[in-house]
Amino acid sequence: MSLTIALSKGRILKDTLPLLAEAGIELLEDPEKSRKLIFPTSQDGVSIIILRATDVPTFVQNGAADIGVAGKDVLVEHGADGLFELVDLRIAQCRLMTAAAVNAPAPAGRLRVATKFINTAKRWYAERGEQVELIKLYGSMELAPVMGLADVIVDVVDTGKTLKENGLEPRELIMQVSSRLIVNKLAMKMKQSQIAPLVAKLQAAVDARE
Ligand code: ATP
Ligand code: PRP
Ligand code: MG
Repeated sequence: MSLTIALSKGRILKDTLPLLAEAGIELLEDPEKSRKLIFPTSQDGVSIIILRATDVPTFVQNGAADIGVAGKDVLVEHGADGLFELVDLRIAQCRLMTAAAVNAPAPAGRLRVATKFINTAKRWYAERGEQVELIKLYGSMELAPVMGLADVIVDVVDTGKTLKENGLEPRELIMQVSSRLIVNKLAMKMKQSQIAPLVAKLQAAVDARE
């Protein structure tokens, strides 16, 4: 039986590979040095596909991948229908926060919020009874307040260095974020004999780090 695991380049790939190695799955070549998007592994029938981080839930939901690793920020934004979130891998830890220019007062009119997390931001402000104008961006969110495009951003913060170097400060915590192992619901049933031991090994590898 074949098994497809969806990962994204960058920190998720880098931090997931050691966990997968402990579960007996190793890549045979370095995907950061290749233009290929699908890679065989040391385990027969198990392959790893490389996607944009935001596309991982889509592939897993639709069964185009059986398993994936995605940030909680991406999962909350995307919605989790059709998938199980089985293991908190405790990697790629950060916080989803609001941020604004240092000491900037609240604007007189409606707050302009720039973010790639449109659904999450909409829900979060709605829960606070605040009507905001949402501005969809795909990256470099920190520029929006600096250039006068928005009053506030919603983005992930780790060390705070990016905010600081752009004259911004963190304001409110929306959620703590780490990456999760997600599994397609049908695959969980049909490929249980393959998936269950892998999930157990990954959980053990995470627990061993505590
Ligand atoms: P893309 O590059 O495709 O636009 P991305 O920037 O979301 O996607 P990554 O930066 O690899 O891709 O982030 C993947 C996940 O890692 C995010 O969804 C988030 O959960 C977490 N993350 C993002 N930035 C940081 C950070 N600075 N420190 C720790 N974890 C982070
Ligand atoms: C992420 C995020 C922030 C930054 C926060 O960017 O979008 O800009 O990290 O981390 P810090 O608080 O430690 O500065 P990333 O490094 O992923 O760059 P990219 O997504 O723009 O490629
Ligand atoms: Mg990033």
